Order: sequence, then C-alpha cells, then structure tokens
Amino acid sequence: MSTRPRTPAPGTPAPGKLPITELAVLVERRQPIVMITAYDAPSGRLADEAGADLILVGDSAAMTVLGHDSTLPATMEEMLVLTRAVTRGARRPLVIADMPFGSFQVSDGAAVENAIRFVKDAGADAVKLEGAGPTLTRVRAIVGAGIPVMGHVGLTPQSATMLGGFKAQGRTADKAATLLADALALEEAGCFAIVLEAVPAPVADEVTRRLHVPTIGIGAGAGTDGQVLVWHDLLGLYDGQSPRFVKRYADLAGTIRDAVAAYADDVRERRFPEEVHTYAMSAEERAAFEAAAGAGAGSPAATREAAGQR
Ligand code: KIV
Repeated sequence: MSTRPRTPAPGTPAPGKLPITELAVLVERRQPIVMITAYDAPSGRLADEAGADLILVGDSAAMTVLGHDSTLPATMEEMLVLTRAVTRGARRPLVIADMPFGSFQVSDGAAVENAIRFVKDAGADAVKLEGAGPTLTRVRAIVGAGIPVMGHVGLTPQSATMLGGFKAQGRTADKAATLLADALALEEAGCFAIVLEAVPAPVADEVTRRLHVPTIGIGAGAGTDGQVLVWHDLLGLYDGQSPRFVKRYADLAGTIRDAVAAYADDVRERRFPEEVHTYAMSAEERAAFEAAAGAGAGSPAATREAAGQR
C-alpha cells in the first residue's frame, strides 16, 4: 500500500479541518459556535489551540493592526497577507477571510475573482461579505464558484456612514423587519452562516429562529447560534473605547507595556543580558582568537603593520 499522502480532491477540506457541515451538527446539539478574529500566524495558532471553531480574518484589521480609524482603507493585498499568515497558524478552525471595502462592490466578476484569491493564494476556507441588497448577486456568484460565503447584517462597518455611525441597528419595528428580510435573502442566496452585529436581542432571536443556517452574534444577545469577538477587544489589546458588547478577558496591553518597560530598564541598568543569555567558548579557542585578533598574521592590525601604515 502506498504511504504517500493523497492529493485532496478540489474542495476537500485539509486533514483535521472542521467540516463546514459540522456547524449544523453544533446547532442541532445546541452547542454555541465559537468564532474569533485573528490577523497573524501566532493568533491563528492560539485560537486553534484554545478551541475556536471559526476564525475570521476581519477587515477590523485596518483598525486593530494597521492603525486606521475605520475598516474602509483595508486593501486586498493587506487582507491576503494577513489571511495567509492566519492559515499558516490555524489547522482545525475554518478560516474566513473578510472581503474588504472595494473588493466586491464593483461587479459580480470582481467579487468572484477576489474571493478566489483568498482561497487559492491565502488558503481561506470561506469569505465574508457585508450587507444585503446589492450584495446578494455577489453572494450567488461566489457560492456559484464553489466558495462558501458568510453574510453580515446589522451594523456593517463598511457602510457606517450610510447607517449614521457605529450604532445599533434594527431598533424600530420597520428596521427590524428589513433586517430579518435581509438575513432571509442572504440565506436564500446561499450563505452558510450570517453575522448579526449590534442588533437588539429579540430581533436576533427571531432571525435565528427563522433561518436554517447558523447566526453568529456580536452585540446581538445570547440567543444566536454562535458568538464572535474581535481578538484585540477580548484580550484588552486595543486602546480606546470598546463597544458595550465587548467582554475583556485579559489586559494584555498592560501586560505588554509592563514587560517592555522592564526590558528597557534592564538594558539601561545593564541587568540584561546575563551570563545565561550568552554563548560560551572554550578557554583554548578564546586564547587563540585573542592572540590572532590582537597581533596574529592576517589581523587588521598585523596587515596595517606589514603595509607600513603604523
Ligand atoms: O471585521 C471584523 O472583525 C468583523 C467582525 C466584527 C464580525 O466583521
């Protein structure tokens, strides 16, 4: 029998990868789906080791790691680099690449081409697109190309200006009904799951009841099929005000600041490096080196001397 690894057929998940069909099993078992964002190989690996089911390489990277004030400046090239890093680190979780602003708005063709780049060049398992309405034909086109798509309704940061800012959505009966209709339309277009962001819990609960695909909430209450938080928010790595739906599980910004300050003090006070951080050399080699370096043939000093320069 051959021991060579078989080349997986196109569309076959890598060994150990959570099958996308398993999400329905989790919902059936009423076991909440755990999603978190990640933006590099170490965070992808740690999220995997901590048991996340889904990793979103969110365009929130524009704010959390690239220092912008909004998600709009994120480019395809930046998102590809980050997604590639995350897929190198994460094995089991499905990695979903967030399609940045401008990568899917222009045409179905451009949306499919960019989604394919995430899968082929960066190893993503799926992509996420914000909005409904004009996004629906994009979803159909990408799913038609064989790439799973996650939808995203409610507060969609790429259209925050149109929505009047970073505010909760679906808070009136009319707006809630539109949000429900949008989620149903995204499911009908082929989304395998839908993010509900900053939506009142009763609205998210009803959307969750009406959809057959899982809902993943962020600021949408406890009734969705899963939850997502942004890496930097959860770990306390992001300076500035967090939205009310964030729960901080650590203060890594404080831990990192203290650690770097301790290192700076140690360097300035010559407490670092210590003996244990340095490499040894045998006494014999050291003596030979010092003799050669000081006056030996071939040393810079000896060469200069031979040339009569000193
Ligand atoms: O970009 C992102 O991180 C997101 C999540 C907040 C869902 O879209």
